[in-house]
Amino acid sequence: MARACGLGLLLALLLPMVGTSVPGTVVRLNKAMLNYVSETGKAPLQRALQVTVPHFLDWSGEVLQPSRVQILNVQVSRLDLNFIAGFGIRMLVAANFTFKVFRVPEPLELVLPVVLVADARVAPDSIRTPVVSISTCSSFFNNAIVLDGNHSTALLVRVQRHIKAVLRNKLCLSISNLVQNLNVHLGTLIGLNPVGPESQIRYFMISAPNITNDYISLDISAVLFLLGKPIVLPVNATRFMLPEHVGTDSAMATVGLSQDMFDSVLLLLQKAGTLNMDITGQLKSDNNPLNTSVLGLLIPEITHQFPQPMSVVLKVRLGATPMVILHTNNATLQLQPFVEVLAVTSNSAFQSLFSLNVAVNLSLQLSVSKVKLQGITSVLGDVKLTVASSNVGFIDVSVGLRSPEVPSLGGGGLTPGEGTDQVHAQIGTVFEKPLLDHLNALLGMGIALPNVVSLYYLNAEIFVHEGYVVVSSKLLYEH
Ligand SMILES: *[C@@H]1O[C@H](CO)[C@@H](O)[C@H](O)[C@H]1NC(C)=O
Ligand SMILES: *[C@@H]1O[C@H](CO)[C@@H](O)[C@H](O)[C@H]1NC(C)=O
Ligand SMILES: *[C@@H]1O[C@H](CO)[C@@H](O)[C@H](O)[C@H]1NC(C)=O
Ligand SMILES: *[C@@H]1O[C@H](CO)[C@@H](O)[C@H](O)[C@H]1NC(C)=O
Ligand SMILES: *[C@@H]1O[C@H](CO)[C@@H](O)[C@H](O)[C@H]1NC(C)=O
Ligand SMILES: *[C@@H]1O[C@H](CO)[C@@H](O)[C@H](O)[C@H]1NC(C)=O
Ligand SMILES: *[C@@H]1O[C@H](CO)[C@@H](O)[C@H](O)[C@H]1NC(C)=O
Repeated sequence: MARACGLGLLLALLLPMVGTSVPGTVVRLNKAMLNYVSETGKAPLQRALQVTVPHFLDWSGEVLQPSRVQILNVQVSRLDLNFIAGFGIRMLVAANFTFKVFRVPEPLELVLPVVLVADARVAPDSIRTPVVSISTCSSFFNNAIVLDGNHSTALLVRVQRHIKAVLRNKLCLSISNLVQNLNVHLGTLIGLNPVGPESQIRYFMISAPNITNDYISLDISAVLFLLGKPIVLPVNATRFMLPEHVGTDSAMATVGLSQDMFDSVLLLLQKAGTLNMDITGQLKSDNNPLNTSVLGLLIPEITHQFPQPMSVVLKVRLGATPMVILHTNNATLQLQPFVEVLAVTSNSAFQSLFSLNVAVNLSLQLSVSKVKLQGITSVLGDVKLTVASSNVGFIDVSVGLRSPEVPSLGGGGLTPGEGTDQVHAQIGTVFEKPLLDHLNALLGMGIALPNVVSLYYLNAEIFVHEGYVVVSSKLLYEH
């Protein structure tokens, strides 16, 4: 708890710096989620309701006789949870309590039917995690049914009065305790989740939830950290709103991820440099078919400068932040890497041959595994190349079609005259696969969606809409 308070203080200090509504995420929990909580909650509720009952004191002639009272069994036959629009959640529990009163000479066994009704509010607390608090709780008792024992009606009335007085206090207290445990769980919403090496994301609630008869909708934002420091995100005055009726009807959770959310995560990845990479050069290596002799076939000046074959390194740098374009059923990632092509000279020094500005559009397929949103990319259309600088004279990369197959260069089938499209195809292809592999490895690690411990997204479906993405999912609680 002390740690959570410390985090809260930290968060409170950070929030003014990073703005309050960017990047927007909405987590909408539907009626199906309440039904799931009802199902999974029955067993723990039954255990929690097994309260201890003090001895029953009764006059036996002139002496006060104490009898031990034990709850033999609690059978919860109903646990209903419902949203109350504009307020919170109502819980209705119907249960049968079986008691044994160890009376001398004859014990008494009875079943007491109990109905519990509790209303709970959900609100963000000071550390911006959702907190459930019971606002009212009452228990209603039916007449007990005697299972065993032959006792006077008067005694039955006294036993029941004793038991009811105890349960009236203790059952609501048990429910409060259960809710406290739930809150500890919900508090893990603000846990730090890795985005990539040295970068993290932390979600928090920005305002009171919106509760209708069908769902509770939590407005969530995130702070993104690079090397432990929050990065400053552009402020967007418009709050992200998730339209009604998105996702699938049967989903327990519907998560809306705004365009800002994607932009922010890409900004973080770019600032962290995780999108950059070096395609190392080794002669005769499979993953890099480039070397100075191959390039020399395309650009004769290279052969002139490097009569001996040298290996070639590509340094891929993303200066501009990549952009995600979200259209209906269609997510595209636009990248503009700067690629520097260097020869590795014999003394392990690098010598820049030329550099290219590259533009490539990737189709982005999203999926969810456990709590992570993952992506996989593939190239859409042409890779566009323009020469940024050259130390090897004029290079004509007049934009031709990207040929899907690299011409085989091994057999010496290419003569210098075959020229410029080959430069394009060759460079484009050689960095395309490593770039995709790198990106897919990074996006495959995934970015945590809003989550709490032990709760996972299950069978999530992704819907791409104009300007936002919806994750529609069942939830799985695993202890
Ligand atoms: C409680 O037990 C009685 C008697 O066995 C039964 O008729 C009733 O349906 C039970 N009620 C609940 C809520 O389980
Ligand atoms: C129950 O107790 C009463 C008196 O206390 C007695 O008359 C009756 O026979 C008892 N019934 C049974 C079934 O034991
Ligand atoms: C809550 O949801 C209702 C129904 O969609 C909507 O009209 C209202 O604007 C929402 N309120 C807030 C504060 O988001
Ligand atoms: C601000 O957020 C709104 C709602 O999510 C979005 O439509 C808009 O494009 C965003 N503006 C900018 C500049 O990102
Ligand atoms: C240069 O690359 C070509 C094509 O990948 C390859 O066939 C050739 O063996 C390489 N040359 C050297 C010296 O590694
Ligand atoms: C998705 O968008 C890209 C780029 O705008 C376009 O080339 C492609 O045809 C679109 N695909 C679908 C399935 O709409
Ligand atoms: C990427 O897509 C955008 C929008 O569809 C288009 O304007 C641009 O030319 C494309 N770039 C490449 C390299 O295909």
